[in-house]
Amino acid sequence: MSRISIFVGAVGDIHAPKFLDEFRRSLASFNSSRLDLFLLAGDLILKGNFTNLEYVLEAIKQKGINCPVLACFGNEEYSDIRDQVMKIATDRVRFVDDESIVLTVHNLQVGIVGSQGSLESPTPWQAKNVPNIEKTYADRIEKIARLLTGLKTDLRILLTHYPPTFKVLKGERKMFYPHIGCSRCERILHKDKVDTAICAHSHMGIPFALVNDVPVHNVSLPAVHMISFIEISKTKTLDRYMPS
Ligand SMILES: [Fe+2]
Repeated sequence: MSRISIFVGAVGDIHAPKFLDEFRRSLASFNSSRLDLFLLAGDLILKGNFTNLEYVLEAIKQKGINCPVLACFGNEEYSDIRDQVMKIATDRVRFVDDESIVLTVHNLQVGIVGSQGSLESPTPWQAKNVPNIEKTYADRIEKIARLLTGLKTDLRILLTHYPPTFKVLKGERKMFYPHIGCSRCERILHKDKVDTAICAHSHMGIPFALVNDVPVHNVSLPAVHMISFIEISKTKTLDRYMPS
């Protein structure tokens, strides 16, 4: 048996330009020397203004982060500007949107499922303005579950903007929990399907909770005021690493 690990930096809710200065300060004090992956948990920009994405990308470049950078969309990357966001991010950030990708890190296969995620119940604005949003959220939970099941990798990460649990929402007003996170998603968090879940969107929540023994990290910048550093590890048999 052997312990395998990767090191991930993660942050969400930069809402550039709103928290851009805090993002830059957080990057300055962040030790990125051991980083294998850098994950952006959505809401990188404020209210759909995609021109501000360039400042986020420039800050990452200035920090010298040269590992793969992946992102999911947040609700403030409005659906009608996501093509422009991906165009600006080309070759610098890979957006993973209701899909999975597999990367090789130190001879380990690492699978990442990325999604905006689901809410327990749509916000009043969404209910009024987004057709079929309840079905979209219900379907998305099933899709994420299928994507996680499909990953046959050494490590599996779920990256969503919306928290896939209420457990990291402590500090938010309880009446708003259903519009900030999704307790129905907890049923897809199981140790045999996902090693770590990373989310944002809860600006007043807590940084960490365990759901069915799966660590869930809320990396929302206004909640934690830092770039989160997460070690993802598991114990594994050495069979596939032994010389034949
Ligand atoms: Fe958000």
